[in-house]
Amino acid sequence: MQTVTIHPLDHPLTGTRRVPGDKSISHRALILGALAEGVSDVVGWLPAADCYATLHVMRALGVPVEHDPAMPTRIRVHGVGVHGLREPDNVLDCDGSGTTMRLLCGLLAGQPFFSVLTGREALRRRPMRRVAEPLRRMDASIDGRDGGNLAPLAIRGAPLHAIHYNMPIASAQVKSALMLAGLYAEGETIITQPGPARDHTERMLSAMGAPVHIDGNTVRVHSLRTALHPLTAPDGSPFVVPADISSAAFLIVAALLVPKSTLRLVDVGINPTRTGILDILQRMGATWTLDNVRADAIEPTADLIVQHQPLHGTTIDGDLVVRAIDEFPIIAVAATQAEGETIVRDAAELRVKETDRIGNVARELRKMGAEIEPLADGFMVRGPTPLRGAVVDSHGDHRLAMALTVAALIADGPTTVHGAEVMADSFPNFIATLLGEAHHV
Ligand code: S3P
Repeated sequence: MQTVTIHPLDHPLTGTRRVPGDKSISHRALILGALAEGVSDVVGWLPAADCYATLHVMRALGVPVEHDPAMPTRIRVHGVGVHGLREPDNVLDCDGSGTTMRLLCGLLAGQPFFSVLTGREALRRRPMRRVAEPLRRMDASIDGRDGGNLAPLAIRGAPLHAIHYNMPIASAQVKSALMLAGLYAEGETIITQPGPARDHTERMLSAMGAPVHIDGNTVRVHSLRTALHPLTAPDGSPFVVPADISSAAFLIVAALLVPKSTLRLVDVGINPTRTGILDILQRMGATWTLDNVRADAIEPTADLIVQHQPLHGTTIDGDLVVRAIDEFPIIAVAATQAEGETIVRDAAELRVKETDRIGNVARELRKMGAEIEPLADGFMVRGPTPLRGAVVDSHGDHRLAMALTVAALIADGPTTVHGAEVMADSFPNFIATLLGEAHHV
């Protein structure tokens, strides 16, 4: 286990940073690119543990993926076509990646072969019924521990039929799993989501020529009768993965909290299903500037310029929670410095993320002096509170480790973060990038 000690910053954060590629889109580039006929050339790919898990799984399914460790952000996926995957000769290791396991569950359910999905202990504790149950309604054969809820999951591929599914929770992982299964199912699969979960699968599949139709919160997918085009930009150049707004969020909040800071974050994905963090910070009184907006790409991007500003408390609930679902550890840190109360509701999903993000965020931030109360479906923070250096733990959660690191920058003494290696699940070189010491800008 890796331990890092972070010292309070005695200078502002300034300059330009490029945060790594979007994790959700990097997974999908591999999975969807695999189904195309032709080569998907992808730049800006995220070379982090979660996406490597997907890369290894796709290779084990017979998909050639070129990846040169000397150029880790580029991949070339040699699509095998919709019916070209082959039976893996061993279990498929999803490591700690819920996205890999859930999306693959949907993809594998309709294949004419047997496969087993497993992963590290924390992933084997996460609920899989949310994907397995609707897939079973499509005639999938999926079994696992705890009555088919927990990995390892054994999937006996079968012919599927389409269903109309009203998702009880707004989850892009569940939606994407059902869309992938829908490509193989007889009939039209209709998925209605209660809120706007991220729509990368819809955008990317549509760009590849798949029969996907969107009407508000309802997505319709037909079984595939024609080949999918490889993933490219609209002008035929390589597909560019935007910088991950969920990774940028840590630097945005760091710039807001560290006095006199100004940061420019380049090429950040601003897909509206992901920009809840910006809306939340705006409600807390923050402003920022967008520059170099590119709205014509499959995934829109912009440079984001943000500087130190005072914040005030707000209430966050409903659809806004869905559009910022990964950002609550760092929102909690921002709230400790905001004037008044910040209340997060309708966010019970946080209990089943990489860890229980309500319990663990509250537990660790309290060690630093924060006034934070866990609620059944969220949390409440009273601010502003001066933070003190402490010994804290990541609980194996990359976003909690990074949020605590940002909190440490404004604490009154050194903070030791145990289990810091997990930051690499989504953000390699996080600390160097945050502090402006990384070489790749
Ligand atoms: C993801 C969807 C979200 C998010 C996760 C990535 C995706 O999960 O928390 O980090 O790539 O589809 P849910 O769909 O379970 O909310």
